[in-house]
Amino acid sequence: MADVEQAAGRLKMRLPKAGTIEVVPSVLSADFARLADEIAEISLAGISMVHLDVMDGHFVPNITIGPPVIAKLRKVSDLVFDAHLMISEPAKYIEPFAEAGADHITFHIEVADEPLKLIDKLHDLGCSAGICLNPETPVEDIAAVAPHCDMVLVMTVHPGFGGQEFMPEAAEKITRVREIIGPDIRIEVDGGIDSRTTPIVVSYGADTLVAGNAIFGKKDRVAAINAIRSAWK
Ligand code: DX5
Ligand code: ZN
Repeated sequence: MADVEQAAGRLKMRLPKAGTIEVVPSVLSADFARLADEIAEISLAGISMVHLDVMDGHFVPNITIGPPVIAKLRKVSDLVFDAHLMISEPAKYIEPFAEAGADHITFHIEVADEPLKLIDKLHDLGCSAGICLNPETPVEDIAAVAPHCDMVLVMTVHPGFGGQEFMPEAAEKITRVREIIGPDIRIEVDGGIDSRTTPIVVSYGADTLVAGNAIFGKKDRVAAINAIRSAWK
């Protein structure tokens, strides 16, 4: 189990320390009518985190889940909840997501007016903080902010949907992110990750591999997680 840190109301789960490579299933491609069972099944693979994609129909052209769903899932899982906020007004919603039970919260640089303030607020709430950049966003846009985060999320598809084609040119940005943040901050990569693309992103310096379709598109989710793991070992 991951380390915990005392926060108002409950113990927040901490990200695994940098230095290990983690597969992080994204439930976007899971059966939403059976989310608790789906999370129980992936837990059998010995994962430490689960990726929860939050979409508002404004920043991205899709709508998913909000704090009420996360609060219910919190009661049935002690995995690190990694909430990826694909929403236009992160400042307005960070607190409800933290209260619902998100441990790590990522917001997008493209919609953050005062990213350093948001990071401070997340830390005050007991959460770890993530900054995300879209495929077309230059790495330099996060250069001043990234060293203050606990994890940087590099999108390798345009956000909004699971099962899209991996964008190799977006993945190349990982190398520059790693130069900026050094070895102690995690780099998460999200979009089109499977056993074919994993060796590419790991070679660039990513250590936190979000995968939706490559796991929940398979009947045996544990075998699918292990297939991704064996791609870098
Ligand atoms: C897409 C989401 C991803 C998505 C990835 O906007 O942020 O987390 O679930 O799905 P796959 O792994 O299928 O590309
Ligand atoms: Zn995501």
